[in-house]
Amino acid sequence: MPILAPSILTADFLHLGRDCKMLDESKADWFHLDVMDGRFVPNFSFGMSIIKQIRNTSSKFFDVHLMILEPEKYAEEFKEAGANSLTVHLEACPHLHRNIQQIKSLGMKAGVAINPATPVNFLMDIITDIDMVNVMSVNPGFGAQIFIPHTIQKIKELKTLIKNTGSSAKIEIDGGVSLKNTAEILKAGADVLVTGNAVFSSENPKETIEKLKGL
Ligand code: DX5
Ligand code: ZN
Repeated sequence: MPILAPSILTADFLHLGRDCKMLDESKADWFHLDVMDGRFVPNFSFGMSIIKQIRNTSSKFFDVHLMILEPEKYAEEFKEAGANSLTVHLEACPHLHRNIQQIKSLGMKAGVAINPATPVNFLMDIITDIDMVNVMSVNPGFGAQIFIPHTIQKIKELKTLIKNTGSSAKIEIDGGVSLKNTAEILKAGADVLVTGNAVFSSENPKETIEKLKGL
């Protein structure tokens, strides 16, 4: 069964407490929290103060996806806000190994995200140091985009890299995941599914979460 990590990016921000409570009561495993800085990606979302408030609504695992430059400046604050895991972008971090060490030293799980145009083999020298790879299946910055089919090939390549190196990293797929493509994504080897729009635009989000988990 996959780990399901709904993204609140497409939640109703005027009723964020209600939507977070719904996720807390649902069969969702994690909260996926998308932080954007208007520099690494062409959009803004929210930061640590919002995450800190969301922390009051649930004790589930907080998977924080940082689409920001210089994440080292804020890692500690995200930890204090309640993050259980921080994922940074390979493309945003010239000193990626140092970023991973910092996240781990703060007592959080450490993930690395790669954009659709970044090859899987760029992870070769970091794969045994990390807990998760976020394979972006859309270009980061916006919810409700269309899944890029080439991602399936990348999941397979990553699965092989993980196996060959003895890494224990989980494979997370982020962007355009819906009931239409979960079977193919899971067959290719994914462990964690991020779903924003598919959950929040559905008539019955709790039921959709169960279906996405294959329950
Ligand atoms: C995109 C974000 C994703 C995205 C997922 O930049 O990282 O987490 O919002 O949402 P959907 O499922 O709507 O593509
Ligand atoms: Zn994300």
